[in-house]
Amino acid sequence: MDLDQYITAHTASAGELLDALQRETYLKVLQPHMISGKVQGRLLAMISKIIQPKYILEIGTFTGYATLCLAEGLRADGHLHTIEANDELQEIITRYIKQAQREAQITLHIGQALDIIPALACTFDLTFIDADKLAYPQYYELALAKTRQGGTILIDNVLWKGKVLDLTNHKDKKTLALHAFNEMVTADSRVENVLLPLRDGLMWVIKKGLCKA
Ligand SMILES: C[S@@+](CC[C@H](N)C(=O)[O-])C[C@H]1O[C@@H](n2cnc3c(N)ncnc32)[C@H](O)[C@@H]1O
Repeated sequence: MDLDQYITAHTASAGELLDALQRETYLKVLQPHMISGKVQGRLLAMISKIIQPKYILEIGTFTGYATLCLAEGLRADGHLHTIEANDELQEIITRYIKQAQREAQITLHIGQALDIIPALACTFDLTFIDADKLAYPQYYELALAKTRQGGTILIDNVLWKGKVLDLTNHKDKKTLALHAFNEMVTADSRVENVLLPLRDGLMWVIKKGLCKA
């Protein structure tokens, strides 16, 4: 048993529906490793349950695994907006949202995130950024402008399999972009942040509020 298997074995079950979605993603969808999976999914669900958000934004739905995890903490009158560019994923996403009986609480937007986010008339309590890595600074600025003071933004893949440690490989645009993004967030006086070394690196950002510690 390696460390990842040990961590997975000592993390709560995601439940039958999410296990089925993960299996189907690995059987039928290209690049299945993009799914958040059990451990990160449980963390997203726990963070959402602590925040009890009224409005959640997800940028990059893929097959909807993290969507359903994030929705676990939604208030009864809350709503989650999730954005996916690949319309071939619409069928699997909507089927699992229906099976989870979350149709009334989740809106799937098919299209480009940079076009869709400005049109969302919500102030978000929780945002999960997990789409095109080169556009992370733009997603971050758009999301931060729509985040309440004290609200959370989570950003996935910020360690990029550890490649951000080796910037000599200047041909890899995504590595350079993610490193620049991590530097930008850490220097941003509007937020507090912590980089969690979970899976591929999860940045947790809180928009500073009115209360001073
Ligand atoms: C890493 S996957 C998301 C994984 C998902 N959040 C999860 O945890 O299971 C990234 C997704 O972002 C989508 N994507 C990439 N560029 C996008 C864009 N400009 N607008 C919306 N979605 C985009 C991709 O099609 C892909 O499905």
